Amino acid sequence: MTLTLARRTSRVTTSAVREILKVAERPDVLSFAGGLPAPELFPVAEIARAHAAVLERDGQAALQYSTTEGFGPLREHIAADFRRRGVAADAGDILVTTGSQQGLDLAARVLLDPGAVVVVENPSYLAALQVFAAAEARVVPVASDDDGIDVAALAAVLAREDVRLIYLVPNFQNPRGTTLSALRRQAVMSLAQAWRVPVLEDDPYGELRFRGAALAPLASLDEAGLVISLGTFSKTLAPGLRLGWVHAAPALMKHLVVAKQAADLHCGSLAQRATAELLATFDFAAHLTTLRRVYGERCDAMLGALERHFPAGTRFTRPDGGLFVWAELPGDVDTGELLETAVHEKVAFVPGAPFFAGEPRRNTLRLNFSNRRPELIEAGMARLGGVLREFAPRQPVRGLAG
Ligand SMILES: Cc1ncc(COP(=O)(O)O)c(C=O)c1O
Repeated sequence: MTLTLARRTSRVTTSAVREILKVAERPDVLSFAGGLPAPELFPVAEIARAHAAVLERDGQAALQYSTTEGFGPLREHIAADFRRRGVAADAGDILVTTGSQQGLDLAARVLLDPGAVVVVENPSYLAALQVFAAAEARVVPVASDDDGIDVAALAAVLAREDVRLIYLVPNFQNPRGTTLSALRRQAVMSLAQAWRVPVLEDDPYGELRFRGAALAPLASLDEAGLVISLGTFSKTLAPGLRLGWVHAAPALMKHLVVAKQAADLHCGSLAQRATAELLATFDFAAHLTTLRRVYGERCDAMLGALERHFPAGTRFTRPDGGLFVWAELPGDVDTGELLETAVHEKVAFVPGAPFFAGEPRRNTLRLNFSNRRPELIEAGMARLGGVLREFAPRQPVRGLAG
């Protein structure tokens, strides 16, 4: 029997790459594909203790239905963190969500009618593109470079189109690992305010800065209540908790809360209370310091290995934080085809093409460095360099060509 599916269902497709990457999840494959934090750094014992303490002390409340907005002390902790970064916030401005992914979905539900124009950096976060496709929005890609979105190109789109939302990952972007510069942050907010367009600031990686000083969040430059800020504990504690948040002005927040109520009533009470307990009882700042140090070492290991093992003429980004490096190979290598050979040789990455809205650059790839120790990063990049040499035999390799 053929069922008639909703129109939006056909707009959100699964890709051939996803199928190959399923194979890459086998334990014998050295995968740099997933956006996975280092599991050995999850504070497992502390999270266990926090859950036990909550169940012991407040078991009945922790297992009961609760409010859509989220657990008060957790919202207060998140609000205090916004204030520390120069954003006016109290607990009432925070909605606890099922990861920041749900924040993306809720913002799209509240702001986008079918056909509405959303501006994204090109390339952009794949699962955000899926959310916008499900909302039947029209995604307009704007070029970006190592300092983030091209503001002149953004200005031109705002002048030409009726833009309903600007979506940005300002810190250590997924997939490129690049950061929106301080000057461009000011320029983006001036443009957003001039055109009165909401800005969706998706910031899962901001706390993972291992080089340089933090830059002002877009929300701290917002004078008109236009910025919706998303954050998450996925990269700083553990993604399995599925806890993130939205910060937004009251006029938007009330609609986001109703949208969440319709989606799932509220996030798990036990996980929220245990996370609040954890944050009140363990040294979160010291934990973040460890994450930054380890990820900084792994990023350096990745950059060094790329220099040694990838073809001369490869361009790669040099992230100041986060989880990803983005590489652009010389010549007309199609990294989608390369992936098949690479998986055969037991090494994996994500081809760049699916991250592009519109015409993709097929010679690009995303590499995750947070999930493997430096010696495995070196081994993996050596293996991938070997695959590249076989795949494009006429490309000189730095390590060999000097
Ligand atoms: C840019 C960006 N936004 C949102 C998410 C979703 O993360 P979570 O829902 O676990 O908070 C991710 C995850 O990789 C991401 O890279």
